Amino acid sequence: MNRDWSTFIQGIGTLHSSRTLRFSDEFREMYMNAFRIPDGCRILEVGCGTGALAASLRRWYPAARITGLDRDSAFVAFARERCPGVRFVEGDATALAFPDGSFDVTISNTVAEHVDPARFFAEQYRVLRPGGVCLTLSARRGINAPAPCVDEQTDFERGIWDRVSARFDEIEERVGMRKYPMDEREYPLCMEEHGFRNVSTEYLAVDLTPDAPGCPRSRARAMIEAERLSALDALSALEAAAGDLVSGEELARMRALAGGRFDKRLALYQAGERQWDTSVSLTMILRGEK
Ligand SMILES: C[S@@+](CC[C@H](N)C(=O)[O-])C[C@H]1O[C@@H](n2cnc3c(N)ncnc32)[C@H](O)[C@@H]1O
Repeated sequence: MNRDWSTFIQGIGTLHSSRTLRFSDEFREMYMNAFRIPDGCRILEVGCGTGALAASLRRWYPAARITGLDRDSAFVAFARERCPGVRFVEGDATALAFPDGSFDVTISNTVAEHVDPARFFAEQYRVLRPGGVCLTLSARRGINAPAPCVDEQTDFERGIWDRVSARFDEIEERVGMRKYPMDEREYPLCMEEHGFRNVSTEYLAVDLTPDAPGCPRSRARAMIEAERLSALDALSALEAAAGDLVSGEELARMRALAGGRFDKRLALYQAGERQWDTSVSLTMILRGEK
């Protein structure tokens, strides 16, 4: 359909690495207890991005029939490659190309705030069978305390971001980025207004702290590398969105500065010099039944 999200908002690497950490098997029981859905059901993931959650659902519900849908064709192509056993389709959450009552469960993660809630919930209600479950996962304000060595932007970098900020404002407006924010009260009310019953909310915290005792080294490194990817993807987005406003030399310098900061973070980790940088995401899990 288009590649706006993966080109300008969150690159494939950013989304996939951060979500793979967030939906890792370490948290399986916590998510499954909140979802309360049986194995063997027909699941539709709306706005599946690169398929990281779908891949976890594949492992956690081995008998489920899972479909992932997203309107970004680059995400869908990546997900098809990476996640066998799930059907991935391009499509629009506001006009789902599925018959009424064709799923037992619909699920989404950090999608609702970008889509008109009237269409978002009405369409999921329509494609669910009577008694089916709608799970809406929404990121709430978490904790983000980066290591000082990755948090120091130079005046040069700040100047470039200021130069291109209007361009990103236009893009975010065009793709509907966070166009429909809702707070913790409004979400359940909205689901009830769209016909869902037995609506419940739950909040799950996922703690990503590389220096935490007991955090396996490979996982700690994956946390640092996920942050690096996010920083470098942001520069690819900058080039795609505003390549005419920034020179190749400036971009190369930005990349070198960003890469160098994460090299330093990794070196500190390898040397056992704890930074205690942390990212704790708080996910609201809304559950409603048709
Ligand atoms: C913040 S990302 C989350 C992706 C994925 N759920 C995850 O957690 O990794 C939002 C996703 O919603 C998708 N999206 C936004 N509006 C959409 C729409 N109307 N129909 C289908 N997908 C949409 C974007 O392409 C993007 O993949």
